[in-house]
Amino acid sequence: MAPYLPPSGGRTGKLRLDFNENTVGCSPRVLEYVRQHLDRNIFAVYPEYVETREKLCGYFGVTDGQLVLTNGTDEAIQVLVNTFLDDNDEVLLLQPSYAMYRFYSEVAGAAVHEIPYHKKDLAFPLAELLAAIRPETRAILIANPNNPTGTGTDIASIRRILEAAPQAAVLIDEAYYEFCGITALPLVAEYPNLFVSRTFSKVFGMAAMRLGVLLTQAENGGFLRKAQSPYSVNLLAAIAVRAAIEDTEYVQSYVEEVLQARDLVYEGLGRMGIHFYISQGNFVLFECGDRAIEIRDGLRAAGVLVRDRSYEIAGCVRVTIGTRDQSRRFLKELERIW
Ligand SMILES: Cc1ncc(COP(=O)(O)O)c(C=O)c1O
Repeated sequence: MAPYLPPSGGRTGKLRLDFNENTVGCSPRVLEYVRQHLDRNIFAVYPEYVETREKLCGYFGVTDGQLVLTNGTDEAIQVLVNTFLDDNDEVLLLQPSYAMYRFYSEVAGAAVHEIPYHKKDLAFPLAELLAAIRPETRAILIANPNNPTGTGTDIASIRRILEAAPQAAVLIDEAYYEFCGITALPLVAEYPNLFVSRTFSKVFGMAAMRLGVLLTQAENGGFLRKAQSPYSVNLLAAIAVRAAIEDTEYVQSYVEEVLQARDLVYEGLGRMGIHFYISQGNFVLFECGDRAIEIRDGLRAAGVLVRDRSYEIAGCVRVTIGTRDQSRRFLKELERIW
């Protein structure tokens, strides 16, 4: 298998528009809350999650059995794959999508079958996915909205997938939920094959903390926790998230800023005659012809980091949307080198 090597070095001091993070940081209340809880003893003790689990269950509206705390979505994917996939079991993925689905499926020795997003508009390939589902399909891993395309699917389509594959574990990865407002979470009660993941790495600005959750029916929750290390979530993350979910105002105002900035980026790209794809997330994919690498490197030289995706979607570069000011800087530098 190919290694997964994200370009996560040398980013300090640059405008980070390359990892779809929160570009201004977590809520100041999170920092304050963590500070209040720091003492020498907390580092000496293996983490306890009782209070955190209670708060998160309230936030997501699930029971304790339905919640699996994970070390980022990455561990959610890993645990789900390890729980439900054996050697040569079939997993359906969409292409392109978040790299870790393929990564953990390959580590588990599963047989990966990929279905491409529609070439022209990068729309969700519902008919093709439904046609690919077989009695042998054991898992289907979907990001909604998807990274890097920014395109998403609706709840009616998710229902059709769940109903077509009752024998498979269906993951709906909602890493960018807050930017689009579409969630499959209310379907968990209805479908025993549904797993919804959320992360605190994106809008909440806590990527370094590594915290996510997997939400599913309680019986599945039991299976997943069996396959998981008991202390995979760091105590600092478990503390920080308690303050993060209380500061809903912070999250809301960041989302509003990003949505305005995204319009600004659409406008700017349109003005330069650059083709882009409408996105439901905090990132936009745009086409640079045969200059994707050159554009990425030119922006980097100006202190602005974006991500080349031309290896999976011809000519495309992905830019994370942060604030309007940050977007103006990106557009200015892009215009200079375009
Ligand atoms: C669709 C999707 N899922 C999950 C993640 C990673 O989330 P986490 O930091 O929670 O592991 C990303 C990060 O880029 C993503 O794009």
